[in-house]
Amino acid sequence: MPIFPKKLSRKLENRKQKNALRILPNSNNLIDFYSNDYIGFSKNKVIFENASQLLFANNFKQNGATGSRLISGNHNLYSQLENTIIDFHHVEAALVFNSGYDANIGFFSAVLQRGDLVFYDEYVHASIRDGIAMSNAKAYKFKHNEIEDLKQLVERLVVSTENEVYIVTESVFSMDGDSPNLKAFADFTTDNNFHFIVDEAHAIGVFGDKGQGLLHELGIQDQVFAQIVTFGKAMGCHGAAVLGSIQLKNYLVNFARSFIYTTGLSPHAVATIISAYQELLRQNKNREKLLENISFFKNQIEELNIASLFIKSEAAIQCSVISGIDNVKKLALKIEEKGYSVKPILSPTVPSGQERLRFCLHSYNSKEEIKNLLVTLNKNYNNG
Ligand SMILES: Cc1ncc(COP(=O)(O)O)c(C=O)c1O
Repeated sequence: MPIFPKKLSRKLENRKQKNALRILPNSNNLIDFYSNDYIGFSKNKVIFENASQLLFANNFKQNGATGSRLISGNHNLYSQLENTIIDFHHVEAALVFNSGYDANIGFFSAVLQRGDLVFYDEYVHASIRDGIAMSNAKAYKFKHNEIEDLKQLVERLVVSTENEVYIVTESVFSMDGDSPNLKAFADFTTDNNFHFIVDEAHAIGVFGDKGQGLLHELGIQDQVFAQIVTFGKAMGCHGAAVLGSIQLKNYLVNFARSFIYTTGLSPHAVATIISAYQELLRQNKNREKLLENISFFKNQIEELNIASLFIKSEAAIQCSVISGIDNVKKLALKIEEKGYSVKPILSPTVPSGQERLRFCLHSYNSKEEIKNLLVTLNKNYNNG
């Protein structure tokens, strides 16, 4: 048996001692309040069947992409998907990446240049932070959703107009479910000739008249330099895209390393994303059911008098902060014992002391399930 490096053992031991060791869970048959499958698209039969038909119609009998998109992997379903995205989101260009993680590390590491300044919300996703860390830009975080804090930082730190300034946020925060005042951020960015970047991972498929996202719903897409959408959440598939100008797309094809140096998505994966977009265009009922459930959940927490436990959110992600790893894990376990899957979010994913229970709502949750879940939370919270 090869020896395992001591430093790594110590880090694992440290995680164990903090009761924060990550382990791969087994799948379960509990009622789903933890997946990102917000509108049930991962199990949608129409999407599944249409994806197969699309492959058949295009005579695709190929399991893998066979290479990176710049070599042999750019099968023609890619251009069909990118054109679908352009029409659906009303943007000039789209570039599909293998995942949201890849899109963010590729985008930020390639776009941000030495001397540039990037201001990002302190709670942005790890993939954005990693991308920024891979760049040579000067990076500053502003307080979560606080535009005044951003303005003060900008006033203090932006001293010349020579370098570019980028402002980065998410339209729905993955660990909070809340949203910034996007219009105010967009206006501030436009007024100052900065560049605005918004990750819409948890808004696509949920907001907008057809699920285009929050920027579209607010009518401010034109003020954005780049918008990141992902397909692994409400779309029920896998992959992501950066939306923006043709010039930006050309730039990323040339410089985004997580795009260049990796095998493309299989034809089947791309066909599934195209079918998911077609399903978004075809029907609104799943989205409407989800929005109804979000509103029901919010009414219920008011009725049970537990709204103050929750971070304010209009999205499918609803979180209640339960400080302390042991506390939040214990509460999650009690709720699971009653038949509901919920996810305790621990530090270091969130700051220590701000551990939380994250409830993901779906079109397929019944009102009764939501009600019983919250009654269980309330009972165990008070007994805990
Ligand atoms: C805001 C945000 N951006 C990007 C990602 C990464 O997307 P993917 O799961 O497609 O890698 C996630 C995933 O959790 C996310 O929440």
